[in-house]
Amino acid sequence: MPPSTRPPVSFLPVTLRLESRQCLVVGGGDAAAHKVSLLIGAGAAVRVVATELCAELRLLLQTGRIGHEVRPFCPEDLVGCALVIAATDDEALGRQVSQLARATGLPVNVVDHPELSSFVMPSVLDRSPLTVAISTGGASPMLARLLRARLETLVPSAYGRLAALMQSVRDPVRHRFPDVRERRRFWESVLSGPIAEMIFAGQDQAALAALQRQLEGPREISHQGEVYLVGGGPGDPDLLTFRALRLMQQADVVLYDRLVAPAIVELCRKEAERIYVGKEMDRHAVPQQEMNELLVRLAKQGKRVLRLKGGDPFIFGRGGEEIDRLAEAGVSFQVVPGITAASGCAAYSGIPLTHRDYAQSCVFVTAHLKEGKLELNWRALAQPRQTLAVYMGVQSMDVLCRALVEHGMSASTPAAVIERGTTARQRVFVGDLGSMPRLIDEHGVQPPAMAIIGEVVKLREKLAWYGVGGDVHPPR
Ligand SMILES: C[S@@+](CC[C@H](N)C(=O)[O-])C[C@H]1O[C@@H](n2cnc3c(N)ncnc32)[C@H](O)[C@@H]1O
Repeated sequence: MPPSTRPPVSFLPVTLRLESRQCLVVGGGDAAAHKVSLLIGAGAAVRVVATELCAELRLLLQTGRIGHEVRPFCPEDLVGCALVIAATDDEALGRQVSQLARATGLPVNVVDHPELSSFVMPSVLDRSPLTVAISTGGASPMLARLLRARLETLVPSAYGRLAALMQSVRDPVRHRFPDVRERRRFWESVLSGPIAEMIFAGQDQAALAALQRQLEGPREISHQGEVYLVGGGPGDPDLLTFRALRLMQQADVVLYDRLVAPAIVELCRKEAERIYVGKEMDRHAVPQQEMNELLVRLAKQGKRVLRLKGGDPFIFGRGGEEIDRLAEAGVSFQVVPGITAASGCAAYSGIPLTHRDYAQSCVFVTAHLKEGKLELNWRALAQPRQTLAVYMGVQSMDVLCRALVEHGMSASTPAAVIERGTTARQRVFVGDLGSMPRLIDEHGVQPPAMAIIGEVVKLREKLAWYGVGGDVHPPR
């Protein structure tokens, strides 16, 4: 029968307990090494029969993690084994191992030959004790690997710790909620509420304490609210973190600023209530204090509140002030970093913020005018071999550039301004300290924009990659 018309072999997915059991691997190459590492991961005692070992297996042998017989396979090797894998290019050998093993009912896998195997090895997403096994029954291991890679990005790595936490209280929970439906509701509230979030945020002790409180407290499950302070990055939705996206998709209410790109707000859960709390320069749509109180109020109503900010919440984002109030009010929260404008703009304009030949340090500075003045440590800023990443500087660029020159920087120091960095509407203008205010004026640069000042700006000529063909302006 031609391969394309061969009927698919059916397999039942099961998970095997192999702890301390003898497992045999026939073959000493890379494929064997991969199977050996999976068996070791399951706690098996692995013996390899092969005339030669690849580097990875030699290392495992040296560290005492496998046994090795340097000779060809013989039928007696199967005695006492719980499972055998033939990982060899020699098809006749694979067939022999398969026949002998099957004759005695021993589970056998012949790599790349599902028709000779009584079991196949799935592609495994490992969040031990949680595992997700993906199998195509040997039809396409590549497809299984691809799917696993996708799941890797969807299943937070902390799921393993969450599973372990749940395991640790299984008996007390069963005792507390003898009714299956009540028990299921309890677990659902744990899995989709603050306790799971504490685990994801690395607060394992707090999660255990909260779980124990819930088990000791009143029978009805309390729905406590929480706040996620999330950095939405500089504009390109692809720059969101996995955690940001997950929280965006489970929030009940979203409070977002002017700086958060609409395409990012769009990624929040469709049913979530959206509240615009945007801030224009010197015009505060919602005063900060009111904002802080709103967060507390919403969380205390039992809601999962997403406070979505542009860039990183802890860099010129007043995120610290907001969670300060939450901490005072006893509201649980977590902070998710975002890509700050300096990193995003630097990457998308082809200007590395540091470079061995040009800059060994980088200062993030805000040039937001206070009563028309800029009070900065000019001496510290006007240092050689240093890059300045200037936030909120569109309106103060002339004051900034003049002061830097007065404090010793050359007027010919390269400078760039990046408007709407990382977005499809990004514009980049390159000049120097002398010409920058005029460039901003001439091109009508509008916030959000930031300046990068220092010798590193010269590198853009060679390293620009994003939107090239559009706004590449050579230094004047
Ligand atoms: C209030 S600060 C917030 C910074 C934000 N927390 C961060 O980490 O990027 C706002 C300033 O960030 C800069 N900025 C934010 N997004 C930007 C973007 N996409 N392109 C250029 N500058 C940006 C601008 O200088 C803007 O005036």
